[in-house]
Amino acid sequence: MIKHMAIIMDGNGRWAKKQGLPRTYGHKIGAERIRDVALEANKMGIQAITLYAFSTENWKRPDDEINFLCKLPKMFFNKYIKELIENNIKVSYIGELEAFPIETQQVIKDALSKTNHCSGLELVIALNYGSRREISLAANAYAQDVVDGKVEISNNEEVFSNYMMTSHLPDVDVMVRTSGEQRLSNFLLWQLAYAEFMFVDYAWPEFNEEKLHEVVYEFNQRNRRFGGV
Ligand code: IPE
Ligand code: IPE
Ligand code: MG
Repeated sequence: MIKHMAIIMDGNGRWAKKQGLPRTYGHKIGAERIRDVALEANKMGIQAITLYAFSTENWKRPDDEINFLCKLPKMFFNKYIKELIENNIKVSYIGELEAFPIETQQVIKDALSKTNHCSGLELVIALNYGSRREISLAANAYAQDVVDGKVEISNNEEVFSNYMMTSHLPDVDVMVRTSGEQRLSNFLLWQLAYAEFMFVDYAWPEFNEEKLHEVVYEFNQRNRRFGGV
C-alpha cells in the first residue's frame, strides 16, 4: 500500500528538443501529465503524491524558461482546478513561494483554498523547493522555538520532523525519477530515508496512467525490511 509517492518529473526539455521543439513545449506537455497522474493516483487510493516541479537550483536557467515555468501554474489550474475539485483532490505545496511573481503565488494559494475541503489524494507540488534549504529552515525554526522557551531541546527525530515542510505527510514509500538520471538533485533527503527508488529511462512527458501502474506493480514486488530481517 502506497501512502506517499514522490516523483522527480525530469526530462521535459530533452524530450521536446529531440522533436525539434522548444524546451518550454516539454514543460507544457509535462503539466498535462500531472493532471493524468493525479487523477489515476487518486483512483488507486494513494494518499499523497509529491511532484518536484521547480528546485532551488532551477533559478540558474535562462530567464525565458523561468518565465514560462512561472506561468505554468496559472495555465494548469485555470484548465484543471474544476476537475481536481470534482475528484476530491487536495492541492498543497512545499517550498518557498515568495520567490515567485505575485500572480503565480496567488494562483497557487487560490488552488489551495479551493481544494482545502477535499479528502482524496493530496497533490503536493514542490516549488522553489530544495531539501538542504528545508532542513536549514527547520533547524532554524526549532532553535528559535527553544530560545523562545516553546519547546525543550532534544534530539528526537519526530520532534524535528514536525519542523519540516512535509510535517503532515507520511515518509515517502516510493521515489520515481524519469529521464534516466540517477540522482536526487536536492529532493526530500530526509523523507526518502527508507523509500524504494525507481529510475526510469523515459521522459516525464511520456509518463501516463499505464506507467503509474507499472511503478506501483514494481513497488509491490519489493521486499522492504526497514533494517529488520
Ligand atoms: C524537468 O525537466 C522540469 C524542470 C526541472 C522544471 P527539465 O527541464 O529538467 O528537462 P531536461 O532534464 O533538461 O530534459
Ligand atoms: C530536478 O531536475 C528538479 C525538477 C525536476 C524540478 P533538474 O533537471 O533540475 O536536475 P539536474 O540539474 O539534472 O540535477
Ligand atoms: Mg532536468
